[in-house]
Formats: sequence, structure tokens, C-alpha cells
Amino acid sequence: MTPDEALEDLLATRWSCRAYQDRQVPKPVIERLLTLAQRTASWCNTQPWQVIVTSGAGTERFREAMTEWARDHPAEFDFAPPAEYRGVYRDRRRASGWQLYEAVGIERGDREASARQAFENFRFFGAPHVAIITTDAVHDLYGAVDSGLYVGTFLLAARSLGLGAIPQAALAGHATLIRKHFEIPEDRKILLGISFGYADEAHPTNSYRTARAGLDEVVTWVE
Ligand SMILES: Cc1cc2nc3c(=O)[nH]c(=O)nc-3n(C[C@H](O)[C@H](O)[C@H](O)COP(=O)(O)O)c2cc1C
Repeated sequence: MTPDEALEDLLATRWSCRAYQDRQVPKPVIERLLTLAQRTASWCNTQPWQVIVTSGAGTERFREAMTEWARDHPAEFDFAPPAEYRGVYRDRRRASGWQLYEAVGIERGDREASARQAFENFRFFGAPHVAIITTDAVHDLYGAVDSGLYVGTFLLAARSLGLGAIPQAALAGHATLIRKHFEIPEDRKILLGISFGYADEAHPTNSYRTARAGLDEVVTWVE
């Protein structure tokens, strides 16, 4: 395989994993994943990300705290989420949502079932591990850019090690709980969480893949 084919293989076979096997990832494998992700580029090589990784009882305590909190607290983020999704962005968002609902048999308009599926975010989709990604508050937007690149590398590194993973802004929507639970100081901003582990590949929620726009929709050539 040439290097671009190796990269293509990782990109094409990675997906956001929403069901996991009930088994821990050995610590050396997690260390390898974090070591690979650590090679991410950042502005002035500042590497403003910090990562909290839960395992075993640590994940279970966090899962319990998160599900209890999310039941009756509205979302509040350190980084404001998109104010709205317009035009093609709304269309793509809807299309990926329908794919998920179709995969798990949720009818259009069944708000109770879709709310139940959305709540799976706070159960970390049954994953045995969660990585909470924070960035330096003073770096603000560019700290989020650098740390977002880190998340991208993390996802590909996970795939390269045979792991499933999913980035979750839904977790960042409960920044107060996360800050309290992990004693995160005010000079860190919570970017998002990544749930990860070994995928339950037979689960319906893992049965579909999302599409991508063609180059004609995103590239402007100037020659
Ligand atoms: C920054 C970011 C935040 C996301 N937050 C969530 C989330 O909270 N819950 C969720 O189910 N998926 C979340 N996703 C996953 C996206 O829905 C998913 O990446 C997208 O639909 C493309 O599908 P794929 O990852 O399977 O290729 C997030 C992805 C990114 C990049």
C-alpha cells in the first residue's frame, strides 16, 4: 500500500461508533493511541490540548454522573455551538440524522424515540473509555482549532489500532458537570469528549456510513 492508500484506508473505514463491546482497551494500546495523536500540528507548536482519559470504574462514575445531570440540566458550552444550520449544512445534518434513525428503526416524527437515542450520548453509547479534550482558555479560537486537529488525528489513530471512537459535542454541552467532576480549572475550556473502545460492529447503529460532498461543492480553483 502506498502512503496515500494507507491514509485513504483509514479515512474510508473510520466512522462514528455508537455501540461498543463490553471490554476494556489495554492501557498500552491507549498509550499508543495518545502517542500517535500527540504528533498533531498546532500553531507555534503550542500543543494547547490536554486530555483526561477514563477507564473501568472511572468511566462508570462519569457515566452515572453525566446521565443523572443531563436528565434535567439544559446544555451550556464553553465554546458556543452553531447558532443555526443553514442551507446545505441543514440538509447534510438532516441526512445524517435520518440515516441514524433509519438504522435503528426510529420513525420520522417519533420524538420520544429520537430523544431516547440522543440521550445515548450521555451513556457514551456504552463505551468503556472517554477522552475529555480541553484547551487553554487564552488561546480561545485557535486553541480550539489546534485541539480540533488533535481530535481528527485521535480518530484516525484509533481506527489504525482497530478501535471505534466518536467525537461528542453533546458532552461539551454539559461543561459545568465535566468541570466539577474532573476538577478542571477555569483557565481550561472544554472542547468535547471522545468515547472509544472496541466497536460492536453487529449493532444496527454501526451499520451505515455517511456521505461526503464532492470537490465541486467545496473547492474553488484559481489557475
Ligand atoms: C466536532 C464534532 C462533534 C460531534 N458531536 C457529536 C455528538 O455530540 N453526538 C453524535 O452522535 N455525533 C457527534 N459527532 C459525529 C458526527 O455526527 C459525524 O462525524 C458525522 O455525521 C460524519 O459521520 P462519520 O463520523 O461516521 O464519518 C460529532 C462530530 C464532530 C466532528
